[in-house]
Amino acid sequence: MQVIILGSAAGGGFPQWNCSCRNCIGVRAGSFAGKSRTQTQLAVSSDGDSWFLLNAGPDLRAQIESAPVLHPKHSPRHSPICGAVLPCGDLDQVMGLLLLREWQQLSLYATPAVRRMILEDNSMFSMLSRVAGQTRWVDIAPGESFPLLAANGAASGLRCHPLALPAHYPSYVPESKLASLPPEESRLGLVMESASGKKLAFMPGVAGLTPQHMQLLAEVDVILFDGTFWDDEELMRIQPGAKTARAMGHIPVSGPDGSMAALASLRGPRKIYIHINNTNPMLNESGPEYRAVRDAGWELAEDGWEVNLA
Ligand code: MLT
Ligand code: MN
Ligand code: ZN
Repeated sequence: MQVIILGSAAGGGFPQWNCSCRNCIGVRAGSFAGKSRTQTQLAVSSDGDSWFLLNAGPDLRAQIESAPVLHPKHSPRHSPICGAVLPCGDLDQVMGLLLLREWQQLSLYATPAVRRMILEDNSMFSMLSRVAGQTRWVDIAPGESFPLLAANGAASGLRCHPLALPAHYPSYVPESKLASLPPEESRLGLVMESASGKKLAFMPGVAGLTPQHMQLLAEVDVILFDGTFWDDEELMRIQPGAKTARAMGHIPVSGPDGSMAALASLRGPRKIYIHINNTNPMLNESGPEYRAVRDAGWELAEDGWEVNLA
């Protein structure tokens, strides 16, 4: 299984267009000891020919151009991208669907609730179904694993195990609609498994962890975990009226109840933070927060990284 980390930042990217936090000022000035990042996006393949996106984020056009394996190989129109798995309906994880609208046949794997959040009330997404067979929506459910299919309908060699996560809806979903959306379908963790049994967990938005999650995570080879915020009040300090990290559906990295402490007992898997918000002090590689995560055995995902699980 080949995995390309096309983007590793939270919504807004790093730097974020309207942000003048210390990190964003520093990275624009070129004086920051850390890297800029585009919004979180993965591409995964078993055979190097058929590729699947995890997320469809707003930076996708440039991210596809940055990865030659994702470029068209046949004329006149072709893409090695066979489809996308959408773990939630957050804008920074689905807006890129509109960039994939050029008559390309795609399979989109999502829960019925996520599909409805995207398609109902948002008429511009009808561009994904202008011609018969353009988009094949596949319903997925927590706890029910499914195969990812190549463009010709054959098995691609990849399986996905969707994990139930605490419910969290994007803020654009109208209040009147929430009652009709099953909470367990609002957001999933994704464990991707190769034909040889190697596993990668992709969990960019996690509001809470259960002992069952810990058991499942102990069995994976690589964890890409929610590194959005360092602490619960991070965004409130920069933007009065903002919500806490937890209210936004993200366990902070630090503190006794943070993800670093919660996952400290997992010694087997390679642990990598992803979906890192531009305000997060651990982005500064000369700072104590970066040192603390590295000393705890974590890495910080960077755009362009490749993870190969043979
Ligand atoms: C989120 O997942 O809550 C957002 O990506 C955070 C943000 O927009 O900064
Ligand atoms: Mn996000
Ligand atoms: Zn910023």
